[in-house]
Amino acid sequence: MFSRLWTTTLLAACCGAAAQAAPAEAAVPSIRAAEAYDASKLPDDPYGRLVRYGKELTERTFAYLGPEVKDKRMRYAGNNLSCASCHEAAGTKPFAIPWVGAFATFPQYRAREDEVSTLEERVNGCMERSMAGKPLPLGSREMKAFITYMHFLSRDVPTGARVQGQGLPAFNAPDRRADIAAGAKVYVEKCASCHGPEGAGVRPGAVGSSTGYTFPPLWGKDSFNNGAGMNRLLVASAFVKSNMPFGTTHAQPQLTDDQAYDVAAFALSHPRPVKANLERDFPARWNKPVDAAFPPYVTGAPAGQHKYGPYLPLQEKMKSLRDEAAGKAAGK
Ligand code: HEC
Ligand code: HEC
Repeated sequence: MFSRLWTTTLLAACCGAAAQAAPAEAAVPSIRAAEAYDASKLPDDPYGRLVRYGKELTERTFAYLGPEVKDKRMRYAGNNLSCASCHEAAGTKPFAIPWVGAFATFPQYRAREDEVSTLEERVNGCMERSMAGKPLPLGSREMKAFITYMHFLSRDVPTGARVQGQGLPAFNAPDRRADIAAGAKVYVEKCASCHGPEGAGVRPGAVGSSTGYTFPPLWGKDSFNNGAGMNRLLVASAFVKSNMPFGTTHAQPQLTDDQAYDVAAFALSHPRPVKANLERDFPARWNKPVDAAFPPYVTGAPAGQHKYGPYLPLQEKMKSLRDEAAGKAAGK
């Protein structure tokens, strides 16, 4: 029951398109093998060039939009991550928030804004949060390149259809507060070899060289900010369970649910860039995910419970708030 509740919330909050999925008779499209998304095979024409630039921007965001690029006007991202730090394999890895099909599911209702968002607005959501930066101008070549690349990845997916492996998988959160000390142990054993003992990642070049990371930081000043989806414990746990240590797939996870939950909590327990005006997120408060760990809190529970769980009681409280809101709307 909990996992069903949570699944619904994850889909509603993270990837709202679920509710508008394809007609039942349509087969669920799946993500194809990497060759299917080989942009180098496209002709050397305006579309092909823009798709290739979009892919390049995805994999090497830091080199074009990062805080260390020479042209100060292009410093839209506030950190040296790439989109592919999370949207692995340039947005083609199942269960790593792939972009295959993303073009087909926007515009969509988004709880964070409580309105229908376009794909461009969703890109800028990650620019301002995951990339701790500023929104890209809608008419910029870079925005067009991201959107065109996503169009290319989605070209087999019918409008409105949801691809298998889109977003993140449901995560069966243990019904307890996350154990940061246990997470620290998992971190040392399974994560620190790449992400570093201090979570600062590994850079291939000097600071200032805009060469990004070999292994991205998980916290600290060059990481995603506190308004990012990855800063929510249930989102980060789901990502880590299906994708980390690097090379892990959803079919063959290397961590238990408990380990993923605790290690994600350990990573999120450290400081990171702070986003202004987070209180404006989720204006329909009853729609706010329970693990969005910033005020205002409508459940009456302490802030720490939103950050570290247990989430089941919060899910139940939110459900009754939603039922109440629905009742009011129906004039009861
Ligand atoms: C730190 C991890 C991280 C980075 C880096 C990141 N994103 Fe995201 N992105 C997420 C998460 C998590 C979600 C889904 C959860 C949510 O909506 O909060 C998401 C969702 C999206 C979606 C919607 C996908 C769908 O199926 O609905 C798009 C489009 C997107 N990101 C674009 C980008 C772009 C473009 C960049 C680089 C400029 C980027 N992201 C960088 C974590 C990241
Ligand atoms: C073998 C190296 C390796 C190990 C071990 C590893 N990671 Fe990663 N991790 C990566 C790489 C590389 C990426 C970027 C994804 C890409 O380039 O495809 C990444 C990305 C991430 C991200 C999203 C990007 C960001 O900067 O926040 C998170 C979160 C993460 N790893 C958490 C973990 C956790 C937790 C563990 C331990 C359970 C772990 N990783 C173990 C290599 C590793």
